[in-house]
Amino acid sequence: MEIKESKVSQIELIGQLHRQCFAADEAQEVANLAMSLMKSSDEVLSLVALEEGELIGHVVFSPVKIKEHDQLPTYILAPLAVIGSQQNKGVGTALVEHGLNLLKVREVVAVFVLGDPNYYGRLGFYASQDIHPPYLISYPEAWQVKALSDGALSGLCGIAQCVDELMNPDYW
Ligand SMILES: CC(C)(COP(=O)(O)OP(=O)(O)OC[C@H]1O[C@@H](n2cnc3c(N)ncnc32)[C@H](O)[C@@H]1OP(=O)(O)O)[C@@H](O)C(=O)NCCC(=O)NCCS
Repeated sequence: MEIKESKVSQIELIGQLHRQCFAADEAQEVANLAMSLMKSSDEVLSLVALEEGELIGHVVFSPVKIKEHDQLPTYILAPLAVIGSQQNKGVGTALVEHGLNLLKVREVVAVFVLGDPNYYGRLGFYASQDIHPPYLISYPEAWQVKALSDGALSGLCGIAQCVDELMNPDYW
Protein backbone atom coordinates (compact mmCIF):
# COMPACT_ATOMS: atom_id res chain seq x y z
CA MET A 1 0.00 0.00 0.00
CA GLU A 2 1.27 3.48 -0.78
CA ILE A 3 0.05 6.93 0.21
CA LYS A 4 0.38 9.91 -2.11
CA GLU A 5 -1.05 13.37 -2.58
CA SER A 6 -4.07 13.05 -4.83
CA LYS A 7 -4.15 14.33 -8.41
CA VAL A 8 -6.92 16.44 -9.96
CA SER A 9 -7.48 13.59 -12.43
CA GLN A 10 -8.53 11.32 -9.51
CA ILE A 11 -11.33 13.59 -8.33
CA GLU A 12 -14.23 11.58 -9.82
CA LEU A 13 -12.82 8.28 -8.51
CA ILE A 14 -12.44 9.84 -5.09
CA GLY A 15 -16.06 10.99 -5.16
CA GLN A 16 -17.07 7.45 -6.06
CA LEU A 17 -15.03 6.06 -3.16
CA HIS A 18 -16.84 8.27 -0.65
CA ARG A 19 -20.21 7.35 -2.16
CA GLN A 20 -19.35 3.67 -1.59
CA CYS A 21 -18.03 4.08 1.94
CA PHE A 22 -20.63 6.25 3.64
CA ALA A 23 -24.23 5.39 4.49
CA ALA A 24 -26.72 6.13 1.73
CA ASP A 25 -28.25 9.15 3.51
CA GLU A 26 -24.93 11.01 3.63
CA ALA A 27 -22.84 9.41 0.87
CA GLN A 28 -23.53 11.97 -1.86
CA GLU A 29 -23.04 14.90 0.50
CA VAL A 30 -19.68 13.57 1.72
CA ALA A 31 -18.57 12.84 -1.85
CA ASN A 32 -19.45 16.41 -2.87
CA LEU A 33 -17.61 17.77 0.15
CA ALA A 34 -14.46 15.75 -0.60
CA MET A 35 -14.46 16.86 -4.24
CA SER A 36 -15.12 20.53 -3.49
CA LEU A 37 -12.42 20.62 -0.80
CA MET A 38 -9.93 19.16 -3.28
CA LYS A 39 -10.68 22.03 -5.66
CA SER A 40 -10.82 24.76 -3.04
CA SER A 41 -7.23 25.84 -2.29
CA ASP A 42 -3.57 24.88 -2.50
CA GLU A 43 -3.48 24.74 1.27
CA VAL A 44 -5.77 21.71 1.30
CA LEU A 45 -3.94 18.40 1.77
CA SER A 46 -5.67 15.50 0.02
CA LEU A 47 -4.09 12.05 0.31
CA VAL A 48 -4.96 8.81 -1.41
CA ALA A 49 -4.09 5.27 -0.37
CA LEU A 50 -3.36 2.98 -3.32
CA GLU A 51 -3.06 -0.82 -3.42
CA GLU A 52 -1.45 -2.04 -6.64
CA GLY A 53 -2.46 1.26 -8.20
CA GLU A 54 -6.12 0.96 -7.14
CA LEU A 55 -7.65 3.70 -5.01
CA ILE A 56 -8.59 2.22 -1.60
CA GLY A 57 -8.72 5.22 0.73
CA HIS A 58 -8.81 8.99 0.88
CA VAL A 59 -8.46 11.73 3.48
CA VAL A 60 -8.62 15.53 3.33
CA PHE A 61 -7.08 18.05 5.72
CA SER A 62 -8.12 21.71 5.30
CA PRO A 63 -7.02 24.88 7.11
CA VAL A 64 -8.78 26.22 10.20
CA LYS A 65 -8.53 29.66 11.72
CA ILE A 66 -9.23 30.11 15.39
CA LYS A 67 -11.08 33.37 15.95
CA GLU A 68 -8.79 35.93 17.60
CA HIS A 69 -5.78 33.62 17.08
CA ASP A 70 -5.71 33.93 13.30
CA GLN A 71 -1.98 33.38 13.02
CA LEU A 72 -2.07 29.95 14.63
CA PRO A 73 -1.79 27.37 11.84
CA THR A 74 -4.32 24.62 12.50
CA TYR A 75 -6.21 22.17 10.27
CA ILE A 76 -9.25 19.91 10.32
CA LEU A 77 -9.43 16.32 9.10
CA ALA A 78 -12.56 15.59 7.01
CA PRO A 79 -13.58 13.41 5.34
CA LEU A 80 -11.80 10.05 5.73
CA ALA A 81 -12.86 6.82 4.03
CA VAL A 82 -11.44 3.38 3.24
CA ILE A 83 -13.27 0.93 0.97
CA GLY A 84 -14.99 -1.95 2.76
CA SER A 85 -12.77 -4.75 1.45
CA GLN A 86 -9.67 -2.95 2.75
CA GLN A 87 -10.95 -1.87 6.16
CA ASN A 88 -9.31 -3.01 9.41
CA LYS A 89 -5.90 -3.33 7.77
CA GLY A 90 -4.47 -0.07 9.08
CA VAL A 91 -5.18 1.98 5.94
CA GLY A 92 -7.22 4.66 7.76
CA THR A 93 -4.58 4.93 10.46
CA ALA A 94 -1.80 5.19 7.87
CA LEU A 95 -3.64 7.94 5.94
CA VAL A 96 -4.20 9.99 9.09
CA GLU A 97 -0.66 9.52 10.41
CA HIS A 98 0.88 10.34 7.04
CA GLY A 99 -1.19 13.53 6.87
CA LEU A 100 -0.29 14.56 10.41
CA ASN A 101 3.41 14.08 9.66
CA LEU A 102 3.20 16.22 6.51
CA LEU A 103 1.30 18.94 8.38
CA LYS A 104 3.85 18.91 11.18
CA VAL A 105 6.59 19.57 8.62
CA ARG A 106 4.46 22.52 7.41
CA GLU A 107 4.51 23.78 11.02
CA VAL A 108 0.83 23.19 11.62
CA VAL A 109 0.38 23.08 15.40
CA ALA A 110 -2.92 21.20 15.79
CA VAL A 111 -5.50 19.22 13.84
CA PHE A 112 -9.21 19.06 14.70
CA VAL A 113 -11.70 16.36 13.77
CA LEU A 114 -15.43 15.79 14.20
CA GLY A 115 -15.79 12.03 14.45
CA ASP A 116 -16.07 8.93 16.56
CA PRO A 117 -13.85 9.30 19.65
CA ASN A 118 -13.47 5.51 19.77
CA TYR A 119 -11.67 5.66 16.44
CA TYR A 120 -9.84 8.98 16.66
CA GLY A 121 -8.87 8.43 20.30
CA ARG A 122 -6.70 5.57 19.06
CA LEU A 123 -4.87 8.06 16.87
CA GLY A 124 -4.14 10.47 19.72
CA PHE A 125 -7.09 12.85 19.35
CA TYR A 126 -8.84 14.04 22.51
CA ALA A 127 -11.87 16.21 23.33
CA SER A 128 -11.26 19.87 22.48
CA GLN A 129 -12.60 21.70 25.54
CA ASP A 130 -11.48 25.29 25.00
CA ILE A 131 -11.56 25.63 21.23
CA HIS A 132 -15.12 25.14 20.07
CA PRO A 133 -16.54 24.00 16.72
CA PRO A 134 -18.12 26.62 14.46
CA TYR A 135 -21.65 25.39 15.24
CA LEU A 136 -23.35 23.83 18.23
CA ILE A 137 -23.14 20.06 17.79
CA SER A 138 -25.30 17.23 19.11
CA TYR A 139 -22.38 15.11 20.34
CA PRO A 140 -19.79 17.49 21.83
CA GLU A 141 -17.45 14.55 22.54
CA ALA A 142 -17.09 14.08 18.77
CA TRP A 143 -15.22 17.41 18.50
CA GLN A 144 -11.59 16.50 19.04
CA VAL A 145 -8.11 17.83 18.50
CA LYS A 146 -4.55 16.57 18.34
CA ALA A 147 -1.72 19.00 19.13
CA LEU A 148 1.28 18.48 16.85
CA SER A 149 3.67 20.42 19.04
CA ASP A 150 3.96 20.50 22.82
CA GLY A 151 1.76 23.07 24.50
CA ALA A 152 0.59 24.45 21.15
CA LEU A 153 -2.94 25.04 22.42
CA SER A 154 -2.31 25.62 26.11
CA GLY A 155 -4.25 28.55 27.48
CA LEU A 156 -6.05 29.17 24.18
CA CYS A 157 -9.81 29.62 23.95
CA GLY A 158 -11.78 30.34 20.82
CA ILE A 159 -13.98 29.19 17.99
CA ALA A 160 -12.71 27.30 14.98
CA GLN A 161 -13.54 28.74 11.57
CA CYS A 162 -13.24 26.31 8.67
CA VAL A 163 -13.01 26.90 4.93
CA ASP A 164 -16.34 27.83 3.28
CA GLU A 165 -16.89 24.29 1.96
CA LEU A 166 -17.09 22.99 5.55
CA MET A 167 -19.13 25.89 6.97
CA ASN A 168 -22.41 24.22 6.06
CA PRO A 169 -24.41 23.70 9.28
CA ASP A 170 -25.72 20.39 7.89
CA TYR A 171 -22.26 18.87 8.30
CA TRP A 172 -22.08 19.61 12.03
C1 LIG B 1 -13.54 4.62 9.77
C2 LIG B 1 -12.64 4.08 8.66
C3 LIG B 1 -12.03 5.22 7.89
C4 LIG B 1 -11.53 3.25 9.32
O1 LIG B 1 -10.62 2.83 8.32
P1 LIG B 1 -9.76 1.49 8.49
O2 LIG B 1 -8.72 1.49 7.46
O3 LIG B 1 -10.66 0.33 8.58
O4 LIG B 1 -9.13 1.78 9.93
P2 LIG B 1 -7.86 1.08 10.58
O5 LIG B 1 -7.59 -0.22 9.89
O6 LIG B 1 -6.78 2.05 10.67
O7 LIG B 1 -8.38 0.82 12.04
C5 LIG B 1 -9.26 -0.24 12.21
C6 LIG B 1 -9.56 -0.36 13.67
O8 LIG B 1 -10.40 0.74 14.05
C7 LIG B 1 -11.61 0.22 14.53
N1 LIG B 1 -12.68 1.12 14.12
C8 LIG B 1 -13.10 1.44 12.88
N2 LIG B 1 -14.11 2.33 12.96
C9 LIG B 1 -14.31 2.56 14.27
C10 LIG B 1 -15.20 3.34 15.00
N3 LIG B 1 -16.10 4.11 14.41
N4 LIG B 1 -15.10 3.31 16.35
C11 LIG B 1 -14.17 2.56 16.98
N5 LIG B 1 -13.29 1.79 16.35
C12 LIG B 1 -13.38 1.79 15.02
C13 LIG B 1 -11.76 -1.16 13.91
O9 LIG B 1 -12.60 -1.95 14.67
C14 LIG B 1 -10.32 -1.64 13.95
O10 LIG B 1 -10.00 -2.07 15.23
P3 LIG B 1 -8.85 -3.18 15.50
O11 LIG B 1 -7.57 -2.64 14.94
O12 LIG B 1 -8.81 -3.29 16.98
O13 LIG B 1 -9.30 -4.40 14.81
C15 LIG B 1 -13.42 3.11 7.73
O14 LIG B 1 -14.05 2.13 8.51
C16 LIG B 1 -14.47 3.82 6.86
O15 LIG B 1 -14.16 4.31 5.79
N6 LIG B 1 -15.71 3.84 7.34
C17 LIG B 1 -16.81 4.44 6.57
C18 LIG B 1 -16.62 5.91 6.41
C19 LIG B 1 -16.54 6.62 7.74
O16 LIG B 1 -17.31 6.35 8.67
N7 LIG B 1 -15.61 7.59 7.81
C20 LIG B 1 -15.59 8.53 8.90
C21 LIG B 1 -14.70 8.25 9.97
S1 LIG B 1 -15.21 9.38 11.27
